[in-house]
Amino acid sequence: MGRQQSQISRRAVLRLGGASMAVLAFSGAASLAAPGRVALRIPPQDHGTMINGKRRFDLTVGAGKTAFFPGVETKTMGINGSYLGPVLRFSAGDDVQLAVQNTLSESTTLHWHGFNLPAKSDGGPHQEITPGDSWTAEFNVREKAATMWYHSHLMGKTADQVWAGLAGMIIVDDDESAALNLPNTYGIDDIPVILQDRSFNNYGQMPYKPGMHFRMMGMTGDTALVNGTVAPYLDVTTSKLRLRLLNASNGSIYMLGFDDDRSFDVIASDGGLLNAPVSVASVRLAPGERAEIVVDMSNKTPAMLRSRSIQTEDMGGMMGGMMNEGSPEFDFLELRPASEMATSPNLPARLVDLPVPDATTATNTRRFELEMGGMMMLNALTGRGFTINGTAMDPARIDEVVKRGETEIWEIANTSMMAHPFHIHNTQFAILDRDGQPPHPVEAGRKDTVLVLPGETLRILIRFDHYTDATTPYMYHCHILEHEDGGMMGQFTVV
Ligand code: C2O
Ligand code: CU
Ligand code: CU
Repeated sequence: MGRQQSQISRRAVLRLGGASMAVLAFSGAASLAAPGRVALRIPPQDHGTMINGKRRFDLTVGAGKTAFFPGVETKTMGINGSYLGPVLRFSAGDDVQLAVQNTLSESTTLHWHGFNLPAKSDGGPHQEITPGDSWTAEFNVREKAATMWYHSHLMGKTADQVWAGLAGMIIVDDDESAALNLPNTYGIDDIPVILQDRSFNNYGQMPYKPGMHFRMMGMTGDTALVNGTVAPYLDVTTSKLRLRLLNASNGSIYMLGFDDDRSFDVIASDGGLLNAPVSVASVRLAPGERAEIVVDMSNKTPAMLRSRSIQTEDMGGMMGGMMNEGSPEFDFLELRPASEMATSPNLPARLVDLPVPDATTATNTRRFELEMGGMMMLNALTGRGFTINGTAMDPARIDEVVKRGETEIWEIANTSMMAHPFHIHNTQFAILDRDGQPPHPVEAGRKDTVLVLPGETLRILIRFDHYTDATTPYMYHCHILEHEDGGMMGQFTVV
């Protein structure tokens, strides 16, 4: 029995023993304790509709109720559903049109995380959709095959709305990846794996109420969710299984691997396929990051995808003084091999040809210092303690102006005692080095979010190739959503 189930059982027992009004009001109490795993929910795919040469998506953001536990209705938010959204399917080169209708009683936004796109279509804090209103984003899909995502980016309330459910996955396809014979049958051997954690109260609700501690550390719950499923299993019918891992949690860094320590291949990072598969036994995924992995199931032994606690070596030996909650230990997803399995083709030895980042091509260097201030507790209380280069996010201030097409080095220095996943809009960048050391092969591909360790200075090679807009900014920020909402975000324009 996984950790989350035993905790639920314990809570259910407490609840039943209490015989309070709360117990009577909460008819689902007994079923919360029901043992056993349930089938993984596979989000519906949305391929959009081709209209006048554009791939059009109609997305409705709304409030709903979701049965995470049998017979218990939890208030949530979702996109074309009660929790999370459909998996949007783009093809490289598509002109996509995303029409978003807000039926909530509060404002929202939807941001397309990972894409090069015009600033007005970014879906960040400046593209607020007021209640009852709608907004349409349009852009050309310039990315290669990749696993991207979309989520609320409302100023000061991103954490709140993502917690409630406003997030979804985007899969980009292209011919190059199709020719590689990778597992690509959606829901069969190519599985979206949206990883989150949530806390439920005695009424089975998950109100977003982080105390000072969680505003500082990033919100972490005690119940693991995969695609909104509590304690899921997946029947595996092929000898190889591709998992598209997305850390869509608010504040948890996951160290992902399997209970039997089997190795697996990482084939893609945030922005698409790597040069070649990289065999590892665990992969670290911070909020916002993605990794596509291929697991060999041909030995027909069940395996549990889990996150384990972070060890010093996972942090490059820099645990000293690190204050993150770290990786909560969760049993995320049990893989159950079927008695008959189809044999999958071998993984190709080479995947794609990524350009080798050349630091000498850069014509400008910018530095970003991630800080939490000396009075962290007080800062967390006021919600303004998180800064970049000494200032908290101000939507009225443009922090950086970048020239289109110019290659730059961005030096991201973490002077705080927590690790921060730094994310930049409108680009895929390459990591040059971490404190002078080249990146691990799983980080050597296209990235849009990178974990910067305490005390570390990380250098990336970055360029914005396509769009200019002197007045509408893009964001860079920590993807721990409590830190982002707390001010660790800045704005840049491309001119
Ligand atoms: Cu995933 Cu600025 O966000
Ligand atoms: Cu983004
Ligand atoms: Cu942070």
